[in-house]
Amino acid sequence: MSDIYTKLTNCLEQVKAKTDFKPKVALVLGSGLGGYAQEIDAAAAISYEDIGGFPVSTVPGHQGRFVFGHVGDVPVVIMQGRVHYYEGYDISDVVLPIRLMGLMGAEILMLTNAVGSINKQFVAGDFMLIRDHILYGVPSPLIGSNVDQLGTRFPDMSEIYRNSLCEEILSAAKSLDINLHEGTYLQTSGPNFETPAEIRAYGALGADVVGMSTACEAVAANHMGLKVCGISCVSNLAAGISKTPLTHDEVQEMADKAAPRFKALVTESIKRIGG
Ligand code: HPA
Repeated sequence: MSDIYTKLTNCLEQVKAKTDFKPKVALVLGSGLGGYAQEIDAAAAISYEDIGGFPVSTVPGHQGRFVFGHVGDVPVVIMQGRVHYYEGYDISDVVLPIRLMGLMGAEILMLTNAVGSINKQFVAGDFMLIRDHILYGVPSPLIGSNVDQLGTRFPDMSEIYRNSLCEEILSAAKSLDINLHEGTYLQTSGPNFETPAEIRAYGALGADVVGMSTACEAVAANHMGLKVCGISCVSNLAAGISKTPLTHDEVQEMADKAAPRFKALVTESIKRIGG
């Protein structure tokens, strides 16, 4: 058995020893959205540090635990705090939590994040539905021997972000009167923000927003057959478009400000896609 699968099944056993909750939707909370997990009536919660072998997030503002509960009638597992490649983990560890949620029984993965906007039509506080992505300077999470128990060696990636889920999210946004852009997310390794020249290059490649997570998670989820969707919150204009130097505090502040609308959108979207 592959080392990755052994580690995963080991983590799964530890989770199962604590809860038998079976989620339908897995939700990853990005910057600013962390408080979302506090608002649901939790059936169970497990700290990452209580799962042996699990990578623990070191980023301020990212708490580290799974919260299990319902959004409307939909059983969800929420990742309050994700693991980033720039923290120094092997890419297979970065996506371990995603795979674990798939093995817990989740069929749908909703990814959220904070991003810098490259597209000049976007302003801070806007939301964008992720229609596709570019993984840039970050290795594929599928590198290494294939985990056959999860998926095939050469998986198709032509519709990672399912059109059917995107349609549901667009109509959720419409019902809430929330303007939702659509576009392409580009993931860099981080942790540094980009240079203005990099942002011009990413724009020329077709990216609308840039961030340091998400795309590798989406690849791993798609590999194992999860239906994936994602929503970005524009926390800042990207380097060179913004007139001021970028800081993590600015990202956090804007994401916090947009959080009430973001939460409403996530709740309505989950009710629709999980119903
Ligand atoms: N660049 C990369 N990641 C980010 C940004 C950014 O401007 N804003 C929030 N996450």
